[in-house]
Amino acid sequence: MKVFEKLVFPNGSEIPNRIAKAAMEENMADLNHAPSEELMRLYQAWADGGVGLIITGNVMVDRRAMTGPGGVVLEDEQHLESFKRWAQISRSKGAQAWLQINHPGRQMQSNLGQETWAPSAIALDLGKMSDRFNTPIEMNQAMIQEVIDRFANTARLGEKAGFTGVEIHAAHGYLLSQFLSPLSNKRQDQWGGSLENRARILIEIVKAVRAVVADTFTVAVKLNSADFQRGGFSAEDAQQVVQMLNGLAVDLVELSGGSYEAPAMQGQARDGRTLAREAYFLEFAQEIRKVAKMPVMVTGGIRRIQVAEQVIESGVDMVGIATALAIEPNLPHQWQQGQNTAPELKPIHWKNKTLASLANMATVKFQLRKLSLGKRPNPKVSPAWALILQQAAMARRTRLYKNRMRHYSAAC
Ligand SMILES: Cc1cc2nc3c(=O)[nH]c(=O)nc-3n(C[C@H](O)[C@H](O)[C@H](O)COP(=O)(O)O)c2cc1C
Repeated sequence: MKVFEKLVFPNGSEIPNRIAKAAMEENMADLNHAPSEELMRLYQAWADGGVGLIITGNVMVDRRAMTGPGGVVLEDEQHLESFKRWAQISRSKGAQAWLQINHPGRQMQSNLGQETWAPSAIALDLGKMSDRFNTPIEMNQAMIQEVIDRFANTARLGEKAGFTGVEIHAAHGYLLSQFLSPLSNKRQDQWGGSLENRARILIEIVKAVRAVVADTFTVAVKLNSADFQRGGFSAEDAQQVVQMLNGLAVDLVELSGGSYEAPAMQGQARDGRTLAREAYFLEFAQEIRKVAKMPVMVTGGIRRIQVAEQVIESGVDMVGIATALAIEPNLPHQWQQGQNTAPELKPIHWKNKTLASLANMATVKFQLRKLSLGKRPNPKVSPAWALILQQAAMARRTRLYKNRMRHYSAAC
């Protein structure tokens, strides 16, 4: 069974099977933005479950730029001991553990009270919910350099904490994905315009990260196979970016798709294309596979062993799984033992796609919360109820975050 064969990365490191726990933002950091006890318990469940690779939920490179309140931040050595434990737990049963590192750019809620940076001063278009996000400030050269340095710094600290790699998040409409897309990047300098220019920040970050970590440390990139928006980052663009990454000692490219504006990663692209199959981006991944020199992973919609096998047999090297592993962390062991477990949530058929996407995220986070408390997940939970609970938790964490940031600014 190919899914349970080991994979060797270009840097020579190995993983025991082809299943990765894909990144899921947990919003479970402690008040210092460090991994909490809940997070440790959650990652123990995934380590015990038998995945070959654990990619953390996105970890911020700057505490002023958060994808959400309660997010983990790694920007200095103050709480490195907690990160060491997190890495150790994640690796305790033989999986590799990578930190996913990220900057939200314009996808940061305005109620966090921070300045919003982006390639261009173009606000998110989320219909009635657009006012939850600031119109961003166009980043200047110094801001761009600061972000590049911060990604490298977080990767360096991640290696010091004992993680075996990092995944640079350049997908889902966050900052690097904003630079890549001609819809959110209207710059006329060396960071905008041609694809080469739009990809420059990603390339510079990969180089900066590589320069500060060991050769044996794994460096991966999560990339959109497309934005699923007319005039956005296209499948052809994705192929060309992978070709640019080919020469840069990148050990894996993970393919996903979409953004807050078009949440294709949840199977909800506005054009409906990704809904066609269970592994949403498989066709794209097969095209990328043809040009990629590094292993390729596809994430989105995979929850059955037959589909995971089909993906691997099609030549794609790894499967990334998020939702199904939030419902059943023991999935790899169950599959290996011949069980046909196929975890699934209640489908959400709401008209408002933005709200449906939020409810989907909330329903998955509900499962993460259960696991973090040592309890069994409940995939049958009502999405509306999960959304209400999630909104209440976010409001509380937002208050805590703002309080904390007031103290932080006063101390600086
Ligand atoms: C609750 C939740 C949080 C997520 N957080 C992240 C994240 O931090 N970084 C990321 O790259 N993707 C994130 N994703 C997207 C997943 O990694 C994955 O691409 C997506 O859920 C599709 O895979 P699935 O169908 O197996 O869930 C998140 C998804 C969910 C449901």
